[in-house]
Parts: sequence; structure tokens; C-alpha cells
Amino acid sequence: MIPPKPPARADKVSLLTYLRLFRADILSAQPARLYHAWMAEFRTLFFHSFLINDPALIARVLTDEPELFPKSNRIREGLTPLLGNSVFVTNGDAWKRQRRIIDPAFEGGRLRLTFPAILAAAKAAVLRMPEGRVEIEAEASHAAADVIFRTLFSIPIDHAVAAGVFQEFRRYQRSQPILNLAAFLPLPKWVPRLHRRQTKRSAKAIRDMIARLTIERAGEIAQGTAPDDLATKIMTEVDPLTGESFKPAEMVDQVAIFFLAGHETSASALAWALLMLALAPDIQERVAAEVASLPDAPDFSDIARLRFTRDVFRETLRLYPPVPMMVREASCPVHFRSRKVPKGAQIVISPWHLHRHVRLWTEPDSFDPDRWSRDENRVPAREAFIPFSAGPRVCPGAGFAMIEGPLLLALLVKDFCFSPAPGAEITPVAHLTVRSKSGIPLIVERRA
Ligand code: HEM
Repeated sequence: MIPPKPPARADKVSLLTYLRLFRADILSAQPARLYHAWMAEFRTLFFHSFLINDPALIARVLTDEPELFPKSNRIREGLTPLLGNSVFVTNGDAWKRQRRIIDPAFEGGRLRLTFPAILAAAKAAVLRMPEGRVEIEAEASHAAADVIFRTLFSIPIDHAVAAGVFQEFRRYQRSQPILNLAAFLPLPKWVPRLHRRQTKRSAKAIRDMIARLTIERAGEIAQGTAPDDLATKIMTEVDPLTGESFKPAEMVDQVAIFFLAGHETSASALAWALLMLALAPDIQERVAAEVASLPDAPDFSDIARLRFTRDVFRETLRLYPPVPMMVREASCPVHFRSRKVPKGAQIVISPWHLHRHVRLWTEPDSFDPDRWSRDENRVPAREAFIPFSAGPRVCPGAGFAMIEGPLLLALLVKDFCFSPAPGAEITPVAHLTVRSKSGIPLIVERRA
């Protein structure tokens, strides 16, 4: 089965055409050669960037010399109104300190404690799932947002504040759809940054609601009545180097990024995974057979049994990496594959292209979850599969997401059968994450 793939642009186009294509969608604005080149240089009057697909170069940028390649400051352009100085956008010592406080909340033992909240959200998603023709991206967003609220603040999505943040977020995304645009097409520093009025209003509304939740939580922590969830853990964690914990205002920034990074990405992956299963009914039945072996009230250790479901989720992350591209900046002149990379050049790492690279993967565009249990794929899996990035800046929620995704998928397939909706056209586009241009409608029927 060959899953939907966006068209590539012609190899040579004018700058104006490129900008126009880019504004519409970053994926289809790229030439087909990026699926077989190890590196590509883009140079115009306004920007100079290198897209790298060579696994050794990617390891150098992300893992071996990350300090030479900080996160591009241009990433901040679209994100500042919502995320302030959150861990997603900072660099250097400020970033290191934030990760020292955040990382312990996502360690293995903590994940086990978080599991009941993830399971409760998965069960609620099953109860909520409508039948008939269903817009599955919307259901997936709802489910992933529920997971985040239950794990962070011990409140379900139908809690008034959680529902308010979720609604406002949808508005925010509509007013600020392609956050990465600025990173590729830098504006000169003197151009005033005008965030649309709606973007600012939505960002403020979201931050006000999050601030209320964190103030309330700070009170509960002081009184000793706070639940033992991610918010409490992060708000009480003390940085071993400085002895300080997050101030209330900083906590608002971090909660905003947990909500954004933790819900948009998981929702995107879940929706694509359900589409993959709808297009491959034999694989869907194998998932259903595997989940039938789970007890009605699974616990954390039962998740290890969902091996094939996990491979389905992993294969989906390969074909539809929710974060399709990441941008770093060269902080000094370097050489990449004997080419000069000047200081300030933008370095683009594209999981989208790397995961479908013809020199690294067998039949790269096919949906083949069994590839993950075949020996031949051990090398690409290690070097050319980075849906969660790599190195010190790797996604702190990776372990969390690899429990949440397969569990949601398994419980949904246990109760429902998913098939393609007649007449639906699915074209992947890169918004905040990889989404379908016109949604993902599926036919949902309850299993007999
Ligand atoms: C399928 C689900 C997910 C995917 C594919 C994913 C992917 C990524 C990627 C690629 C990055 C690095 C971005 C860059 O460097 O430009 C990242 C960073 C991050 N992710 Fe995730 N993520 C997922 C789920 C989560 C969850 C569930 C959480 C938290 C609950 C989370 C929290 C974060 C945070 C805080 C960062 C910033 C880390 C830093 O810059 O140091 N993510 N994620």
C-alpha cells in the first residue's frame, strides 16, 4: 500500500514561485531531489540554508556538536506571543536549566505513575468516538488534548478551563498556521514583527487560562493538597545546580509548550496511524488480534505486549513525522561535505525527507510495519529515524508519546473498525505539524 504523499515542485523555479509555494505548504514547495540527495544548498539574496540528509552530518549537528548549532532564533518569530521563553525556544544556559527541571518528570518511573491518566483519556476517547463518516483529525486532537490535561493537571478535557484552552488553541492555529515560515524566509531585523491581532488575542487568552491553573496549583502545593501529576512534579522540582525551581511566570511558558508540543504532535500521529490502518485492513486486523490479548484493565507493563501496534505507530511516525523539519543555525563558519557553511546559515534537518530517503530505506514510500522487526532495517532505524529529534535537545516527551500513541490506537481498534471514506482526497501538508489538507474523514463502525 502506498500512502498519500504530497507532489514535489519542479527542480528549478523562480524565487517568487518558491515563496508562493512555500506559503501554501513547506512540503510540496520542495524539489523531488531531496529524497535522494545527501545535502542541498539554497541560496538567494535573502537567505542561505542547507538541508542535510546525511546521517553523519545530522548526528554532528544534533548530537556531537549541538552547541555549535543552536536552535535558530527565527523559530521564535511566530511562537513568542504564545510560548514566551519556554524550553522549546531558548538556547544555552537558560535552556540547560529548564531541561534540568523538566526532564525528571518524564523519566521511566514517572511515566508509570502517569499511565492511569493516559489510560483514562484513551477510554474516554473510545466512549466519545462517533460512528459513520468521522473527521478523524478532530477526534485525535480532542483525545490528545485530553491526555495532556489529565497528565499535567489531573483534569479531563470537559473541565471548563481545559475546554477553553483547547478551543482557543484551535483559533490560534487558524490565525498562525505555518510557524516555521519565518525560519526559512527570514525578514531583515528592521522589519517590524506584526503578529496578527487575532494571534495575539488568542495567545493572551490561552496564557491567562494557564496562569489561573498554575496559580491554583501553587496554592494546592503550599497546602499539601496537590495531586501527584506532571504539573506538581515540574513546579516542585529543584534545579540541582542552582537550587531554584520555576517561578510562576516561567511555569506558564512551560505549560504552554507542553500543551502545544504534546498535543499537536500526538494528534497528528494518531490521525495518520488510523488512516494507515483504514487503508491496510489486514494490518488493522493484526492490531485488533494483538489488543484482544490485553486485559480489560491493562496496566503499564501490559503495554510491552503491544509490539506490533508499536511498530504500526513507529511506521506512521516514519512516513508522517509530526515535526517535518527542524531548523538550527551555524554559530560559526564550518564545512559540510567539503562545502563552506557561513556563520548564520540556517541548517534544516528534515525528518520528512530523511525518513523517505531512497538510499536509506527499502521501498521508502510503502507502509510496512513489519520492516521494524526485520534485521535489514536496524541501521536506518538507528541513524535515519528521528521523529523525536536526537541528542541533548531530543523530545523529552518521546517515551510518553510511545505509550500514549500505541495505547490510544489499540483501544480504538479494539472497539471500532476504520475504513476509508469514499471520495476523500488526502494530501499531506505541513501546518504546525503534518496534517491533511482537507482533514482525514474515515468511516467508523463498531466491531461486532
Ligand atoms: C508523537 C508525539 C511527539 C513527537 C513526534 C514529538 C517530536 C518532537 C521533536 C522533533 C522535537 C524537537 C524539535 C526541535 O528541536 O526543533 C520535540 C521537542 C519537544 N517536545 Fe516533543 N514530540 C511529541 C510528543 C511530545 C509530548 C507528549 C511532550 C510533552 C508532554 C513533548 C514535549 C516536547 C518539548 C517540551 C520539546 C522541546 C525540547 C527542547 O527544545 O529541549 N513532546 N518534540
